[in-house]
Amino acid sequence: MKELTINIFRMDPAVDNAGKYKKFNVPVQEGMVVLDAVRYVQENIDPSLALRWNCKAARCGSCSAEINGRPRLMCKTRVDMLEEEITVSPIRAYPLIKDLVTDVSNNYEIERRIPAFRPKKGAAQPFLINQIDVTRSQEFRRCIECFLCQDVCHVIREHNTNYIGPRHAIKVASLDMHPMDGIDRSPMLNGDLGLGFCNITKCCQEVCPEGIKITDNAIIPEKERAVDYKYDPILRLARRLRRGSSAK
Ligand code: SF4
Ligand code: SF4
Ligand code: FES
Repeated sequence: MKELTINIFRMDPAVDNAGKYKKFNVPVQEGMVVLDAVRYVQENIDPSLALRWNCKAARCGSCSAEINGRPRLMCKTRVDMLEEEITVSPIRAYPLIKDLVTDVSNNYEIERRIPAFRPKKGAAQPFLINQIDVTRSQEFRRCIECFLCQDVCHVIREHNTNYIGPRHAIKVASLDMHPMDGIDRSPMLNGDLGLGFCNITKCCQEVCPEGIKITDNAIIPEKERAVDYKYDPILRLARRLRRGSSAK
């Protein structure tokens, strides 16, 4: 039977911080994905190997890893699309728990920094929404929270900033694009949410397994919103008038 060689990153920070790759030979099956190969190792060769997965259908977002250096889902990456020797590492933007498992819980804290949907004052319910507005943010709801986009983003990975990252930028965009949302998040975009650090390299949308156009459809419109907030003279005048009337 044909075999493939897989190098898997091993490290247990509870024991020491000396990570290393361990090589395994795995029999190749028809239609095999990288997750099958890693599970074969865990089930048949080394049960101490830690990995996270759940659906094996590219839906739960749990099996994120770097495969031959590129952020991908292990359950969606066929081994016959890769070179003979495969290297699997954990995603690097998050602290390691063990082997291929990382701690992505800081995403809960980021979520809490984003003001939630609040309906416009006096908006009649049920909401009547034009199809174009529904379609616009539907794309962002396909997100499976795999955090591959956060992993590839150099701002998140290499710089210590307050940038929320691409996964959360699409969340902000979907709220801002909701026609019944009554909160103006524009003042926070370049401030508390750190969107100004994104320099539109588009690496995030290239790795998104859901094909979400993160930069084109979410980040760029949100950046434009932030610029308009600061420089559009009509918006500035409207804010001044609002402030004036609320002071009376
Ligand atoms: S486009 Fe922005 S969010 Fe996406 S990877 Fe580049 S810097 Fe990060
Ligand atoms: S936007 Fe795409 S890459 Fe980012 S977390 Fe969601 S599904 Fe994953
Ligand atoms: S196991 Fe659920 S996305 Fe891969």
